[in-house]
Formats: sequence, C-alpha cells, structure tokens
Amino acid sequence: MQSLFFSHLLCAFLLLFTLLNLRYLTAEAAKCHPDDEAGLLAFKSGITADPSGMLQSWKPGTDCCSWNGITCLQGTRVTALDLSGQPQNSTQVLSGTISPSLSKLQFLDGVYFLNLRKLSGPFPNFLFSLPRLIFIYIENNRLSGPIPENVGSLAKLQAFSLQGNRFSGHIPTSISQLTQLSQLRLGGNLLTGTIPLGIQNLKNLTSLTLDGNQLTGTIPDIFASFPTLYNLNLANNKLTGNIPTSILSLAPNLRYLELGHNSLSGQIPDFLGKFRALDTLDLSWNQFSGLVPKTFSNLTKIFNLDLCHNYLVDPFPAMQVKGIESLDLSHNQFHLVNIPAWVTSSPIIYSLKLAKCGINLKLDDWNPAQTYFYDYIDLSENQITGSPFKLLNRTEYLKGFYASGNKLNFKLETLKLPKTLKDLDLSRNLISGKVPNAVAGLQKLNVSHNHLCGQLPKTRFPASAFSGNDCLCGSPLPACK
Ligand SMILES: *[C@@H]1O[C@H](CO)[C@@H](O)[C@H](O)[C@H]1NC(C)=O
Ligand SMILES: *[C@@H]1O[C@H](CO)[C@@H](O)[C@H](O)[C@H]1NC(C)=O
Ligand SMILES: *[C@@H]1O[C@H](CO)[C@@H](O)[C@H](O)[C@H]1NC(C)=O
Ligand SMILES: *[C@@H]1O[C@H](CO)[C@@H](O)[C@H](O)[C@H]1NC(C)=O
Ligand SMILES: *[C@@H]1O[C@H](CO)[C@@H](O)[C@H](O)[C@H]1NC(C)=O
Repeated sequence: MQSLFFSHLLCAFLLLFTLLNLRYLTAEAAKCHPDDEAGLLAFKSGITADPSGMLQSWKPGTDCCSWNGITCLQGTRVTALDLSGQPQNSTQVLSGTISPSLSKLQFLDGVYFLNLRKLSGPFPNFLFSLPRLIFIYIENNRLSGPIPENVGSLAKLQAFSLQGNRFSGHIPTSISQLTQLSQLRLGGNLLTGTIPLGIQNLKNLTSLTLDGNQLTGTIPDIFASFPTLYNLNLANNKLTGNIPTSILSLAPNLRYLELGHNSLSGQIPDFLGKFRALDTLDLSWNQFSGLVPKTFSNLTKIFNLDLCHNYLVDPFPAMQVKGIESLDLSHNQFHLVNIPAWVTSSPIIYSLKLAKCGINLKLDDWNPAQTYFYDYIDLSENQITGSPFKLLNRTEYLKGFYASGNKLNFKLETLKLPKTLKDLDLSRNLISGKVPNAVAGLQKLNVSHNHLCGQLPKTRFPASAFSGNDCLCGSPLPACK
C-alpha cells in the first residue's frame, strides 16, 4: 500500500519536473501579453526624464515581465507595476505624466508609484478600468487636482494611498463605499473641507492617515466600530473641537494617535489612559487645557509623548513607563522643578524637550541612567544652573543642544562638543570665558547675551550669534583693540 503511494508520488514529481523543464526551454520564446507591452511602452513614452534609468530595461520586443518594476503572476499578464525611488535619492525621479494606456494592463492588481517626485498630472483615470485592482500606492509624487467623486467605484480596493502629492478639493463622500480598505492614506496633500462621516463604513481599516492637509471642522464621532485600527493620524490640519468620545472604542488596539498641529481644545480626556497599547501620542500645538489625566500613568507602553505648545497645568502624572524614547512637554504651564524620575531612568531616551517647564535644577546634579543615545536635548527657558559639561561629555550622537534663557554658569572653552553636534544654543545665560575654535564646525550657534570675552575664532555665524556679551571682539563683531 505504502509503496504504491510512493510510486504515485514519484510519478507526480517526474511529471512536474518535465513540465518545469518544458517551461524553462520555452521561456526564451515566452513574451508578455501584447496589450501589456503596448500599455507599458505608452507609459514610457509619457515620461520625459528618467535620470536614473528606471525604465532602461523597457525595450520593445523583449519580455515585459522581465522589465524593471514589473511582476507577472498570471503567466504572461502583468499583475503589478512598481516603480519606486528611494525617498532620499534625488536622482531617482521620473518626470512626465501617467499615460491612460495603462488601462490595457487588465490583470493589474497593484499600482505602486513611490517617491518619483516629478511625476505630475491629474488623478490617473486608467485606475477605473482595471477590474482586479486592490492596491493603489501613489506616494510622494506631484499629482494634483481633485480626487474623482466616483472614487468609491474602486470597490475592491484594500489599500488606497495618495500620500504626499498635491491633490486638492474635498475628500469625496463616495469614499464610504471602499469597505474593503485596510489602509487609507491621503496625508501630505492640499485637501480641504471636513472629514467625511462615511469613513465610519470602512470597518476593516487598520490605518487612517489624513495628516498634513487643510481639513477643517471637528473630528467626527465615528470611531465606534473600527476593531482593527491601530494607526490614526489627523495631525497638521485645521481641526477644531474636542477629542470625540467614540475614540475610546479604539483603546484595545490603537498604537499611534497623532492629532498634533490643529486647533483642538478642551481637556485631554481621562479615557486616553485606557489605551494600553499606545506607542505614540501626539497632541502638540493645540489648545488643550487643564490637567494631564492621572490615568496617563497606565500608559506603560508609550515611547513617544508630545504634548508641547498647549495650555496644560501641573501636576504632571507620575508615569509608569519602562522607557520613554522621546518626550516633549515644552511650552505649557508646567512647573516641573525637576526632570521627572521616569525620564531620568529611561534606558532608551533619545529626544528630550522640556523648554519652559519650570525646571530649576543644577545640571551637574542630574544623573540620567543613559545619555549616549541622545539626539536632541532642549531645556531652554528654565532656571537651570551649573554646567552642561558632564552631560555633553557623555553623549555620542547629540545633534542639537538648546539651553537658552537659563542661568548656566561655566567657562565656555571647557565644554567638550560631541563630534555629531550641529546646533548649539546657549544664549541668555551667565556663561563666561572664550568662544573655542571647535564651534566653527557647527551649523548653528548662538552664545549671545552671556559674559563671554576675547577674540572670536573664524566662523560663518552672524553677529547676532555673539552680541550682548561683555568683551567679545573680532569678525563679525568689531575688531579687537
Ligand atoms: C541614487 O540612485 C542612483 C541610481 O539608482 C544610484 O546609482 C546612486 O548610488 C544612488 N545614490 C544614493 C546616495 O543612494
Ligand atoms: C474585513 O476583513 C475580513 C477578513 O479580514 C473579511 O472577512 C470581511 O469581509 C471584511 N469586511 C469588510 C466590510 O470588508
Ligand atoms: C490603571 O488601570 C487600573 C486597571 O484598569 C485601574 O484600576 C487604575 O485605576 C488605573 N489607574 C489610574 C491612575 O487611572
Ligand atoms: C568625560 O568622558 C571621558 C570619556 O568617557 C571620561 O574618561 C572622563 O572622566 C569624563 N570627564 C568627566 C569630568 O566626567
Ligand atoms: C541668538 O539669540 C538671540 C536672543 O535669543 C536672538 O535675538 C538672535 O536672533 C539669535 N541669533 C542667531 C543667529 O540665532
């Protein structure tokens, strides 16, 4: 019985092997479907500049399934078109417009045009003639004009991203018909109007990002039934009103809640303390007032907390977080006196911004558990005394140190500047001594309004970076006597 089974298995393998070989032998001859080739070549002819040669392999008469950016999964039919530049690489761009002939690619299920930056023109209407389309990622290009009113007819879509273009006008109400969507990303455009209520129909959403537009009105109270939403980003708009109560329904899963840079007001709701999975909370640059809820002590997994530029008052709750990575409480009405213990003990912190937080410690007495990962430290506008010598001596990656408007009192030439440092603002303190040569390597410097003296080293900084000291001289200040 068993041997019979194995001989069948062997036969099956032989057959498969033969088939694979046949396919291999005929591969030379196999070509992608002529419609797909024609559609892609028409796209190429609409591209006016391709400096990095992204479309170099797109040659007539060769198998288009082997071209850069092309995937064929249905034999000879193109199923995905993926042209992506690296976000940082300015040579990887495409200029030109998107040919409507791409509608010939009837088996496409995914269109990815990422970071091409100079690709322009209106919303590409060929997308409406592709029956199998489920993924659209058209990100960081220069497409403009309205999002078509009938966008809801792309009913199979599971991901729809127009992030980082120049689309304008309102978000069409028909978006409510895209009920299969798991990702809706329209951030970084010029969209106006309100957030459509119909978004509440998109119950499979995991990520909703509308940040960086000009959306107005309140945040609609539509979040009661998004069982899988983990990312909600409405930052950098013109939204007003309170945080709606239905957001509480997102508590079990939400990891990123970004509402910064709007005109939201009222108290920060107590229920935010129930968001046990929250990794990032950004409520910065709004008009929130009153206390930060005590319930925040239950946000044990939070890594990034940004509450800067609001009207929040003392006392700040004692957080139970194991390690915060970035914290910004600047420009509220806090009087923290000390840098909070849960910040000092964080083993992973890299960005600390506590400007105008009513801190009056002696900096030499601050003993953070970890300093090596710091990128940015902003302690401006406090009453901090002493010297940053010990702190700066223990950083390896620091890019910016900002401590203007304090009572720091030390000799500037004793400071060891980390090699990575680019910005240093120590203006309006009680610092004495000379300006060391090492500052010449910085990108920004401000040591104005201290008690510095002596000849300035040769630098590119303007006079206002040095003004208001006791007896500094030499360019850009008047020559030494
Ligand atoms: C940018 O892209 C071009 C072409 O793909 C490549 O040759 C170059 O090395 C890239 N530059 C960087 C900094 O990645
Ligand atoms: C949501 O996703 C599930 C599976 O992940 C699927 O069965 C269901 O049909 C989807 N619902 C909607 C409204 O698309
Ligand atoms: C933290 O959560 C626990 C359990 O849900 C609750 O009993 C406690 O009151 C919460 N703490 C605060 C300060 O809200
Ligand atoms: C500065 O750092 C060096 C190297 O980490 C260390 O040897 C030295 O003791 C430090 N100086 C002070 C005053 O902390
Ligand atoms: C330096 O700081 C002073 C006072 O804070 C400000 O007036 C001046 O413009 C600043 N200069 C530079 C170059 O940043």
